[in-house]
Amino acid sequence: MTITPVPRVGIIVVAAGSGTRLGAGAPKAFVGIDEHTVLRHALRRVFDAPSAQVVIVAPAGREGDALSEALAAAGPRRDLVSVVTGGATRQASVAAGLAGLWADIEIVLVHDAARALTPPEVFERVISAVDSGSAGAIPVLAVVDTIKRVEGGEVIGAVDRSELSAAQTPQAFRRDILASAYRDASGEFTDDAALVAEAGHAVVAVPGHPLAFKITAPADLDRARALVAAAPIAPAPTRLEHDAVLPRVGVGTDVHGFGGDGDLWLAGLRWPGEQALAGHSDGDAVAHAIVDALLAAAGLGDIGTHFGTDHPEYAGAHADAFLSRTLGLLGEAGWRVGNVSVQVQANRPRFAGRRAEAEATLSAALGGAPVTVSATTTDGLGFTGRGEGVAAFAVAVVVRA
Ligand code: CTP
Ligand code: MG
Repeated sequence: MTITPVPRVGIIVVAAGSGTRLGAGAPKAFVGIDEHTVLRHALRRVFDAPSAQVVIVAPAGREGDALSEALAAAGPRRDLVSVVTGGATRQASVAAGLAGLWADIEIVLVHDAARALTPPEVFERVISAVDSGSAGAIPVLAVVDTIKRVEGGEVIGAVDRSELSAAQTPQAFRRDILASAYRDASGEFTDDAALVAEAGHAVVAVPGHPLAFKITAPADLDRARALVAAAPIAPAPTRLEHDAVLPRVGVGTDVHGFGGDGDLWLAGLRWPGEQALAGHSDGDAVAHAIVDALLAAAGLGDIGTHFGTDHPEYAGAHADAFLSRTLGLLGEAGWRVGNVSVQVQANRPRFAGRRAEAEATLSAALGGAPVTVSATTTDGLGFTGRGEGVAAFAVAVVVRA
């Protein structure tokens, strides 16, 4: 049996609103889209996003219903679910959700249940932006309508829409920053990014998704119903069953330019007399491409998520440090490596004489999983052809441990 690691990400799903504008006779989260409610649809997609603690903020008196919906949507992730009671405003509801986060949570996402069809990829995007060092990240969509300033029925000016974006959820923040922004909030804000911005932190925008629209008025519910009827989510298999039977594949690439100090390190080998590559670590593009491919295959983010420049311990580190840590991350998440294939594009070094040594070194760092290395030049074309640097492309297969 695999022990689920304590997640670093917490998702607060606010579902405590009354849905006055929808006017469906029930709190909006409990209105049906098809045979399932708005909340159930929102949670299905939350549980398809990277593993996280999920705190559902329910209307007072509907906590039990919210928990039933959550357990049905969570499948094997039911241990990650809790329900708290919401407040009179969205801001009060988010504050209640924040109070329900576990101590280990480092990144918090706040998501409107009313954006019931938001696909999991939007969650991944905001998480990786915060993982890469931003205080906060929000999904946005370009505004397509021409915008006018209107006062008392009169058009008093145009607004340049190229500067405008519509904000969606989930919005992700570093937990300490969001918590202190909530503690110090001076008034009511329409979203969490506004609160964090008021506290003086920069928030970045990542691409949103048309399906992340908010169900607000009856026409929005009609749209959600039509979309779900056209593309129902398959009821089975669950993610876990799927993972158990099928291997997963991931792809990774990396590029480093020549110009580092000392000897060249590539494919886990030291190449005395060859020009070194530049980079935060040793610039081993082969090892880094393999790390990305493995993390992608396991759905664990990418190299920046785990080894970014905010991890000084990896400055100058070699392939074995990166690969064995990656192997550890996969193991914690219940994966083992099937095999890895990596191709190097470079004029130098010449791999022919050391291919077997490179394969054995990389394979050893991955606990013995087969690694194959191929190398090619690019006929004098591009930066590799001009001898400016090295590119590497890796494909990895992982299977359930
Ligand atoms: N929300 C909440 N607590 C509140 C108000 C809103 O948790 N006191 C949540 C809603 O459940 C929704 C999200 O915040 O998922 C966005 O709010 P909105 O679309 O305005 O939902 P409602 O407030 O329910 O709708 P209305 O404003 O029409 O009453
Ligand atoms: Mg509201």
